[in-house]
Amino acid sequence: MTDLKSLIREVPDFPKPGINFFDITTLLKDPEGWKATIDALKARYEGIQVDVVVGIEARGFFFAPAIAYALGAGFVPVRKPGKLPAETETVEYALEYGTDKLQVHKDAIQPGMKVLIIDDVLATGGTASAVAQLIERLGGQVLGLGFLIELDFLNGKTKLEGREVYSVLHY
Ligand code: PRP
Repeated sequence: MTDLKSLIREVPDFPKPGINFFDITTLLKDPEGWKATIDALKARYEGIQVDVVVGIEARGFFFAPAIAYALGAGFVPVRKPGKLPAETETVEYALEYGTDKLQVHKDAIQPGMKVLIIDDVLATGGTASAVAQLIERLGGQVLGLGFLIELDFLNGKTKLEGREVYSVLHY
């Protein structure tokens, strides 16, 4: 098995002092590492009926479409405000300072649809939890949330309690 952690570049003090940034671009460009990453997420959900895979802008877009393709599902983007052209549903969630918003096309999720949510990193869990609520508000059934990286020390899982969470790598 490819050592995926060795392919992720850690950049100290980015984007601000004190933050150790996990740069996944070094993994994405590695043919074996990239394949192993998608294969690991695919293996977790194979055999489950998934209608659509939801990816969260921006870095979730690196992974969710590939997983959707691998599972034979559709892909639905959740985007930052003002980017989606048709009627949208919005979720607002708290950040350390202030709030943020994400949007999805209302007609992208139909009641009863089986949905998988994919993002690159589970940190505090605020983003993933908000997106799960957004999908459920439209009647979607969230089967699980999958991540490449989970920062265990931030306890993001507590915001996702009762949900099926899978992360390929833990720090
Ligand atoms: C990062 C990451 C997740 C989110 C996780 O996105 O891609 O979406 O933060 O953090 P949380 O668990 O504390 O909510 P970011 O807001 O940096 O956006 P980007 O993908 O557009 O860079």
